[in-house]
Amino acid sequence: MPAPHNARLTLDPTAPSAPVDPRIFGAFVEHLGRCVYTGVYEPGHPTADTDGLRTDVLDLIRELGPTMLRYPGGNFVSGYDWEDGVGPKDERPRRLDLAWRTVETNQFGLGEFIRLCRATGTEPMMALNLGTRGVAEAIALAEYCNIPGGTARSELRRAHGDAEPYGIGLWCLGNELDGPWQIGNKTAEEYGRLADQTARALKMIDPGLELVACGSSGRSMPTFGQWEATVLEHAYESVEFISAHAYYEETDGDVDSFLASAADMESFIAGAVATADAVGARLKSRKRINISFDEWNVWYMGRWHAEGVHEEPWQVAPRQLEDVYSVTDAVVAGSLLITLLRNAERVTAACLAQLVNVIAPIMTEPGGPAWRQTIFHPFAEASRYGRGRVLTVNVDSPEHDTAKHGTVALLHATAVACEDGSTSVFAVNRDTARPLTLTVDLRAGGPHGAVTCSTLADPDRHARNTMAEPDRVTPQSNKDVRVEAGRVEVTLPPLSWNTIRIAAA
Ligand code: AHR
Repeated sequence: MPAPHNARLTLDPTAPSAPVDPRIFGAFVEHLGRCVYTGVYEPGHPTADTDGLRTDVLDLIRELGPTMLRYPGGNFVSGYDWEDGVGPKDERPRRLDLAWRTVETNQFGLGEFIRLCRATGTEPMMALNLGTRGVAEAIALAEYCNIPGGTARSELRRAHGDAEPYGIGLWCLGNELDGPWQIGNKTAEEYGRLADQTARALKMIDPGLELVACGSSGRSMPTFGQWEATVLEHAYESVEFISAHAYYEETDGDVDSFLASAADMESFIAGAVATADAVGARLKSRKRINISFDEWNVWYMGRWHAEGVHEEPWQVAPRQLEDVYSVTDAVVAGSLLITLLRNAERVTAACLAQLVNVIAPIMTEPGGPAWRQTIFHPFAEASRYGRGRVLTVNVDSPEHDTAKHGTVALLHATAVACEDGSTSVFAVNRDTARPLTLTVDLRAGGPHGAVTCSTLADPDRHARNTMAEPDRVTPQSNKDVRVEAGRVEVTLPPLSWNTIRIAAA
C-alpha cells in the first residue's frame, strides 16, 4: 500500500452552526419502471401485507431511514391524472404513461402511497401535475387530501375508505418544467405565473402549506440562473423552496472527476441560493427561499440513452434505470450527502432519487428477495447519525486536479453535533490509490467518550451487491482508530466512505 496522505479536521462546537432539517434525508417514489410495481407494491408476493406492500421492502426502507417520500414523479407526474389512482381498484383505468413509454395500471395510487408513508414513518411530499394540468386540478387534489370532510372531494376520499385526511404539508409545483423532455414544458415566464397562481390558490385552502417551485432540472441547463430568477420574480412571496436536481456518472474512465462530483453540487447550491437571494433583495422581501434538492444521485444516464428504451413496446412496469451500484458510486453518493449537510442552512429538503429498483438503494426481484445496493449504506448512516446541528469544520487536506471540477481536496468531510450529545464525522477519501490519515482535532469540544469508525471500501472499486451476492459490499468496523489528548486519528482507506462516531463523555 502506498504511503498515506495526511489531513486534519478541526471541529469547533462553539462556532455558529446550522440545524440539520430531517427532511434532507428524503427519498423519491416515482411511477417508473419497477419502483412501485414489484418494488414497494406486489400483492402476490409472499411478504405482502393486506395493502399489497412488500414487508421485506418496508423493513429495508425503515433501515435506510428516509424521513420523507416524494411522489408520484418525476417526469411521470406531468401527464398524470391523480383521480385515476383512487377508488375501487377494479374501476381504475389503464393509461399510457408517455414520460416513460409504459402502461400505467393505476393499481397503486394516492391512498396506497399514504399507506406506504404511514408504514415507514415518512412524510409525504406530493408533486402536482403542472404539465398537462393546472390550478383547478391542484385545488381538487388538495381538497381530496387535506380537508377532513363535508365537501364533495373530501367525502369522496372518505367513501374510498380513508376517513382521516392525509395532512400533506409539502407540495412540489410540478416537475422539471424547464426541460424540453417534460410533458407540457414551459418558458420561465409561463411557469412562473402558473406556479404563483397555483401556490396562491393552495394557500387559500391552507396558508400553512409549504410549496416548492421548480428550479433548473440541472446546473448544465442553458437557462440555469435565469430560470430561477424569472420564476421567483413571479412566485417569491407564494413559495418556500426552489428545487434543484442533479445526477452524476463516471464517464470515459475519469474516476477522479466523478469522485469530485460534489464540487458541482456545491456550485449548484451556491448559484441557486445567490439567485434566490438576489431576487429577494430586489423585491425588498424579508422572506428567504430555501433549496429543495429533491432529486440527486448517481445515474448512468449515458447508458440509459444508449439502450434506446424509447423504442420498446408499451409494457407494465418494465425494468428501467436499474443501475447496479459499485463501491465508487457509494463513495460519490456519500460525498453528495456530505455536501447537502454542509449546506444545511439553506438546503432544508432533499430526496435521494429514487427508492426501489430505479436508480435505487434497494433492489427487489419479483416474487423473490430484496437487498441493499452499495449506496444504501452511506445514506443509512448519514440519516441515522446526521441528526442535530452541522458543525463548522476547518478542513486542511492535500488536493489534486480533476478534468471536470478543477482542484479539489482529497478529504471531503463534515461533522454533526447530534441530539444525544455525540458527534458524527462523515468523511470521504477521494484518492483511489493512497490511504489518508485523518486527524480530527476535538480539543475545543472538551471530554468525550468512545470513538468508533465504520468504513465502506473495497480493493475492487467496481465491487457491487447483487441478488446472488447481496452483502458483497457492506460497511466494516475500522480498527485503525487511535485516540489521544483531544485528537482522533483514523486511517481512511483509498476511495472510501467513513462514519466516525464520537460518543458523549
Ligand atoms: O429520477 C428519474 C427522472 O429524472 C425523473 O423522473 C425526472 O424528474 C428526472 O429527469
